[in-house]
Amino acid sequence: MQYTLTVNGKKQTVDVTPDTPLLWALRDVLNLKGTKFGCGIGQCRACTVHVGGKAVPSCQTPVASVKEPVTTIEGLSENGTHPVQQAWIEVDVPQCGYCQAGQIMAAAALLAQKPKPTGQDIDQAMNANLCRCGTYLRIRQAIVRAAAIASQSKGPAQSAAALR
Ligand code: FES
Ligand code: FES
Repeated sequence: MQYTLTVNGKKQTVDVTPDTPLLWALRDVLNLKGTKFGCGIGQCRACTVHVGGKAVPSCQTPVASVKEPVTTIEGLSENGTHPVQQAWIEVDVPQCGYCQAGQIMAAAALLAQKPKPTGQDIDQAMNANLCRCGTYLRIRQAIVRAAAIASQSKGPAQSAAALR
C-alpha cells in the first residue's frame, strides 16, 4: 500500500505493507540511514525519531499509524546547530556513536517539552535509551548544557564557542 509521510518537512510516498515499521521505511525506502537499527524489539531506542514532536521508537511504530510529521536526526537542524547537537559536540558525548542519534532525538524532544528539565525529568525522558558504551554521564551533562545554549540563544546571538 502507498502511504504519504511528511519526513523532515518533505512529503514522501512509501509503498509498504501497513505493519512495516517506520524504521524500515526511513532506512530502506527513503534511504535515511541516520536512524539506527539496534534491537528491533523496542528495548534500546537507538531507533528514536520524532512523530508529531514526540520521541518514539521507530522500530515499534507501524507506518500505517503515522499521522503526524516525522523528524529524523537528518532533519533536526539544517547544519548541525540544534542546541542538543552543539552541546553533544562540546561535551564530546559519543564513544562508538551507535546509540547517539537516538539519544539526541530523545534529548531534543525532552527540551522542546521542558526547556529547563530537572534531573528527574532527564532520568525519565532518557531512561529507555541504552548505551552499551556507558556514555550516560556525558549525555546528562550535555542535556544540561543544551538547555543553557537554548536559553542563551533566545537572547543576543552567541556561538557555542563563546559560551564555554
Ligand atoms: S531498534 Fe528500536 S528500540 Fe531497539
Ligand atoms: S556510544 Fe556506543 S552505544 Fe552509545
